Parts: sequence; C-alpha cells; structure tokens
Amino acid sequence: MPSYTVVGASRGIGLEYVSQLASRSDAMVFAIVRNPEGSTHLKDVAMSSKNIHIIPGDVGAAKQVSEITGGKLDYLIHNAASTNVNTVYKGFDD
Ligand SMILES: NC(=O)c1ccc[n+]([C@@H]2O[C@H](COP(=O)([O-])OP(=O)(O)OC[C@H]3O[C@@H](n4cnc5c(N)ncnc54)[C@H](OP(=O)(O)O)[C@@H]3O)[C@@H](O)[C@H]2O)c1
Repeated sequence: MPSYTVVGASRGIGLEYVSQLASRSDAMVFAIVRNPEGSTHLKDVAMSSKNIHIIPGDVGAAKQVSEITGGKLDYLIHNAASTNVNTVYKGFDD
C-alpha cells in the first residue's frame, strides 16, 4: 500500500492532493497540518474517507508518520508555504 504525506494539507492545493490521493483505494494518506481543529475543510474530506490520517505538525512531522508506517514513506509532497506577492508567480521548481 503506497503511503503519501502531504505537508500543508489544510486548504488549497494541499487539500486537493489529499482528496484525490485518498480516492485511490490502495493508498494511505497522511495530512500534516498545523491546526487540525481549524482545518474544517480537511476534516470534512477525512470524514468520508477511511485512509486519511490527520497529524498535527509541520515540516518536522516525519517522525509521527514513520511510527505508523514502520519507518517507511513512499511519497512526500512538500506543499506548505505562505504565498505572497514576491513569490506567487513562481513555479513549483522555484
Ligand atoms: N496557488 C497558486 O497559484 C500557486 C502557484 C505556484 C506555486 N504555488 C505553491 O503551491 C503551494 C500551495 O499553494 P496554495 O495556493 O494551495 O496555498 P494556500 O492556500 O495558502 O495554502 C498553504 C498551505 O500551507 C500551509 N503552511 C503555510 N506555512 C506553513 C508552515 N510554516 N508550516 C506548515 N504548513 C504551512 C498552510 O497551513 P495553515 O492553514 O496552517 O496556514 C496551508 O495548508 C505553495 O507552496 C505555493 O507557494 C501555488
């Protein structure tokens, strides 16, 4: 079962990654968010899916994920960032 970890999963593109990856029945999806209680859209998505684990944290959440997967992680989607006028037009490779 492939495991995916999405950092910055509360909203925007990160939330969409979680939603689409969780629709794959063989996937395990870890949604890393700074404020699980405030992540209302993510909680709605997770309620209708059995393979989403919401984990409080930020880019340092790898330890919690590895405790669930036995040290294995297949994909890390490092999506978290704040967008501002100086960076908004840059691409993912930037
Ligand atoms: N939207 C675009 O057109 C576009 C274009 C090019 C690149 N990008 C890049 O794509 C990514 C997502 O964009 P988006 O439009 O979906 O952004 P967004 O709606 O502003 O969402 C950003 C996400 O990152 C999280 N986050 C921000 N700083 C964090 C930190 N220090 N630690 C942990 N989580 C953090 C936020 O969590 P909280 O809810 O806790 O704040 C939120 O979940 C960003 O890296 C952005 O630079 C976007």
